[in-house]
Amino acid sequence: MNKLKNLFGKKNQPAIDATSYPEDIENNPAISDSSYIRNQRLIAMRPQASEASNFKILRAKILRQLRTNQWNSFGISSSRKGEGKSMIAANLAISIAMDANQSVLLIDMDFLDPKLAWYFNITVKNTIKDCLFFNQPLSRVLIDSGIERLNNRLSILPSRPGTYRTSDLISNPKMQRLIAEIKANSEGKIIIFDLPPILVSDDVLASIDYYDALLFVVEDGANSGDDLKKALQMVDDKPFLGTVLNKSNDLVNYQDYYYSDQA
Ligand SMILES: Nc1ncnc2c1ncn2[C@@H]1O[C@H](COP(=O)(O)OP(=O)(O)OP(=O)(O)O)[C@@H](O)[C@H]1O
Ligand SMILES: [Mg+2]
Repeated sequence: MNKLKNLFGKKNQPAIDATSYPEDIENNPAISDSSYIRNQRLIAMRPQASEASNFKILRAKILRQLRTNQWNSFGISSSRKGEGKSMIAANLAISIAMDANQSVLLIDMDFLDPKLAWYFNITVKNTIKDCLFFNQPLSRVLIDSGIERLNNRLSILPSRPGTYRTSDLISNPKMQRLIAEIKANSEGKIIIFDLPPILVSDDVLASIDYYDALLFVVEDGANSGDDLKKALQMVDDKPFLGTVLNKSNDLVNYQDYYYSDQA
């Protein structure tokens, strides 16, 4: 199991006002600002920082498994809400895209409570629903992260909250075709799906065929063993990339961390 310590102060502390996005994502300098990085816990933006080593190790382990199995996509989930999926999805995506040879597409598939726009300082104008129901081209929905040093290697498909009957939306044949189109247009990219929690809705089950494998996040101290077992049982036929123990309080420093591909 990977271990990831509490990052930057109290866990679950909201950082900045989620409504204060800039209008222009093309140039997104805010995301390189130290206080922004700290607030959003985007530690992978600072690859030299000791805290970022966790994500480098996680990146190496995941890339190795993807290559070995000739996979190019994975989903990140947990059993319950708030365990740190989106934070880890955002940092992993940045960390992987830091590699000059690797492009990444990060998809927000938590349609009930999407957070990637907040993590990446994005104003969401169009969403995947505009592609599905209003024939908007994908190019209007896909957004470059605007992080200059990533040199257009990180694209994001953000979402807006407020969708109901989300699993119907996810399993809609139009969505299946759209995901197939995204994959066909993403040759050479790694696609990461930021998913909702497994035990809260059937959304993860509805999306399970969209990615090759699952990474599991467990919040230290917040997750009962029963929940974890139940959640893992629900997806036990899906290839498993491993678990990240997040917000761990028992680590002495940020570099304390270990990995397992066992549940
Ligand atoms: N390692 C960490 N240390 C401290 N706080 C953290 C850590 N990881 C995540 N958090 C904080 O916990 C809160 C929940 O994180 P996040 O939104 O990533 O969880 P989630 O699992 O995606 O939630 P949801 O189920 O609502 O999608 C956020 O305020 C985030 O900044
Ligand atoms: Mg989330």
